[in-house]
Amino acid sequence: MLKTLIVYFSFGGTTAKVAESIATGLRLAGQKVDLCNIRDGAPKNIEGYDAIGIGTPSYYFRPAFNISEYVRSISDLHGMQAFVFTLYGTYPGAAGNDVRKALSAAGAEEIGYFKCRGADFFNGYLREGYLFSANNPTQDELAQAERFGRTLAGVMSGRAYVPMPEDPEPPLMYRIERLLASQWIVKRIYSRLFSVKRHKCTACNICVQLCPTQNITVDASGRPVWKSNCLLCVCCEMKCPEEAITSPLSWPLFYPAILYNVRRASKDPDIQYAKVRLSRGETTRL
Ligand SMILES: Cc1cc2nc3c(=O)[nH]c(=O)nc-3n(C[C@H](O)[C@H](O)[C@H](O)COP(=O)(O)O)c2cc1C
Repeated sequence: MLKTLIVYFSFGGTTAKVAESIATGLRLAGQKVDLCNIRDGAPKNIEGYDAIGIGTPSYYFRPAFNISEYVRSISDLHGMQAFVFTLYGTYPGAAGNDVRKALSAAGAEEIGYFKCRGADFFNGYLREGYLFSANNPTQDELAQAERFGRTLAGVMSGRAYVPMPEDPEPPLMYRIERLLASQWIVKRIYSRLFSVKRHKCTACNICVQLCPTQNITVDASGRPVWKSNCLLCVCCEMKCPEEAITSPLSWPLFYPAILYNVRRASKDPDIQYAKVRLSRGETTRL
């Protein structure tokens, strides 16, 4: 029986849904599938698997750092078949391209690429009242993901794979944003610049528990302290019930970029959105 490992990162749950649908397709075709959300760890030793699938949300027009790091950590993929899937709220940029290139540079043979929209819980947009791709992935997209899983099984059994084209490079503004949210800058600079209003923070620990990379510890008074392994998902800021946390992305410096993105996406007829209110860590649809 062929065996596939699927490693993905999901914070909001949309990448997880697609991963599960792909796994269902593979299982219906008679395969054994192991699914790992990288938040809970993922095997570095992939011996015994016939194929590996990597799933990532687009974060700042590139893959989430924990996924890129994982792919780098399994450097020898010669003889392994591989596929990639990516979720995005507005424009995926290089999220899928980067993972596909990294896998093929490590020697893997690509057998599929899938992408679809997923509800975009990015703090900056929610604060402006927009939840882009609010209802994605749809049932139809999940059914497509399941079919993708069955097609992968066919390719693994010898059917021809017609390679998918690369996604187009995003416009200049998004490439600048991608640069400003690069791993070097996040690790060396932004991760030191999260701040907490001590008079508001109740030391409830929600930020510590939610951080997908366990990057937040607490000081003697129970207030959060950030280390450098930050994905810039800013879920700590978004979910804080006291609105006590400020991430560097909330500085006025970044506001024009957020407004530009909101304006552009809200005028794009291909992108659905729901109007929402973000208050005290809760997003409510209006
Ligand atoms: C911090 C952050 C950055 C994001 N950056 C992008 C982006 O550059 N382009 C895009 O299309 N979507 C972006 N999104 C949206 C996510 O890619 C999308 O909502 C995805 O479905 C989330 O996956 P998850 O639900 O599995 O966490 C971003 C979301 C967050 C939270």
